[in-house]
Amino acid sequence: MSSAVIEKKQKRKTDRELNSFKAVFPSRSANEGFARMLTASFVSQLDPTVSELADIKTAVSEAVTNCIVHAYPDSVGEITLSGKYYGDGQVVITVKDKGKGIENVKEAMQPLYTTDSGGERSGMGFTVMGAFCDRLRVSSRLGAGTSVTLTKKLSRGE
Ligand SMILES: Nc1ncnc2c1ncn2[C@@H]1O[C@H](COP(=O)(O)OP(=O)(O)OP(=O)(O)O)[C@@H](O)[C@H]1O
Ligand SMILES: [Mg+2]
Repeated sequence: MSSAVIEKKQKRKTDRELNSFKAVFPSRSANEGFARMLTASFVSQLDPTVSELADIKTAVSEAVTNCIVHAYPDSVGEITLSGKYYGDGQVVITVKDKGKGIENVKEAMQPLYTTDSGGERSGMGFTVMGAFCDRLRVSSRLGAGTSVTLTKKLSRGE
């Protein structure tokens, strides 16, 4: 098991949970857009700013793309997207796969680190997720799968 966290603010105590969702879909590229829209609809209930919404959508896209491209490179597997939000405006989104896993998460999260040899990837996905959220936690087990948890506190929370 390997895991790492990028955190901007000190951990705050968690407020009451107001709403949640969970969706399971195959790792087909069409579902990157689906995951973005689903997350956007869910988060929109909290009246986010345009930039907060864009940040969350971008981070979710990166996480889901990683499942499609890296977790299941030669097959179609299951992706589970779930979300929760709390009374203080904190949003927590989790993207999980049961794919090939990451041996060293800390290394994989370094800017420009990529295992892609085709020159198509820049190795910036985790860096983008970390920059656009307040907290990014990644945990993974080789051969078993990866879980990415994105946390962002919206400014219009109570
Ligand atoms: N869900 C996953 N399953 C297995 N490996 C993953 C997963 N997500 C990321 N990785 C590994 O971590 C590396 C870094 O991921 P990151 O998203 O930062 O860069 P990238 O996907 O290679 O490039 P980019 O996101 O810029 O297109 C990947 O190259 C891959 O080896
Ligand atoms: Mg990526």
